[in-house]
Amino acid sequence: MKEIFQPLVWREGVLRLIDQRKLPQEEAWLESQTWQTTASAIRDMVVRGAPAIGIAAAWGVVQAACTVSEITPQTLKPALDGLAASRPTAVNLFWALERMSETIAAVAGLPADQALARLEDEARAIHEEDLAANLRMGELGAEWARTMGKGAVLTHCNTGSLATGGYGTALGVIRSAWQAGLVETVYVDETRPWLQGARLTAWELMRDGIPAQLIADVAAASVMRDKGVKWVVVGADRITARGDVANKIGTYGLAVLARYHGVKFAVAAPLSTIDPHLEKGEDIPIEERTPDEVCQLGGVRTAPAGMAAYNPVFDVTPAELVDAIITERGVVEQPDAMKMKALLAASA
Ligand code: MRU
Repeated sequence: MKEIFQPLVWREGVLRLIDQRKLPQEEAWLESQTWQTTASAIRDMVVRGAPAIGIAAAWGVVQAACTVSEITPQTLKPALDGLAASRPTAVNLFWALERMSETIAAVAGLPADQALARLEDEARAIHEEDLAANLRMGELGAEWARTMGKGAVLTHCNTGSLATGGYGTALGVIRSAWQAGLVETVYVDETRPWLQGARLTAWELMRDGIPAQLIADVAAASVMRDKGVKWVVVGADRITARGDVANKIGTYGLAVLARYHGVKFAVAAPLSTIDPHLEKGEDIPIEERTPDEVCQLGGVRTAPAGMAAYNPVFDVTPAELVDAIITERGVVEQPDAMKMKALLAASA
């Protein structure tokens, strides 16, 4: 296997992030020294993808802890609140901040160097556990895919090393299925408007030498009908207690198309993406970003000046359109509230 790319690297208080706004033209790294810079990096999409922003936020808390005279829930509240305000949809961000908050509460009262070391250990654990979860999802996802035999696969957005602690969720499943000889080619949606597929997934697949073809998002229906697509696999930003899935805008349309064409539709996501507090997909906060992303392409205006645009960057796919949710703890087929509850209750 090719070496797993690491988009986030922590060294002595500095968080290095590959700047995903500049890929694939430029492999530039941003060096963040403060939690404020890390929060801006999440907001501005230097780092993106649900697990990756959770990991970045955890390191942001460590950066904040380096600056306070005493590590307590009160002194770190501005940083926790500031990091939580960076993006609204991916629950991994809040999940990681919650883990860091619990650690802060547990270490308050310890000498500063010991408390800081414990926070650093927790952030590192969040990072390393995500990579391990992705490798396991890859194994389980490839097993699931084996039942369909070799064929083409379609994916959306970027769910690879760049979006995670390494290897990827949906792209990790594709990597493992490819190694198992189950993937003929990967159809990659370009993923308008931010072009995560065209810029990032294409970059990752080319680095790995996995055969792939970029398609315009609007080509997905005819590709599913005519090109031997056996399964679609996507990631998730938040999965509710009954299995509704928020993911990159366009995912819902793909799930509808997959059902119509008899193509299996899978979601690969770690347990940190499941929000047991939300029952229904309608309750997931959906981020809207600037209309400029829709009115421009690669920084060049394509719509008339002054044209209004609506730019929700995620949508919700109802559980009944999902054939499988692949997690590190197991695969839930035809998810519903009972099966999701059983998954969360199962021992690790
Ligand atoms: O807006 P982005 O690029 O952060 O959106 C990312 C996605 O929607 C991914 O599919 C999701 O976070 C899963 S990444 C493993």
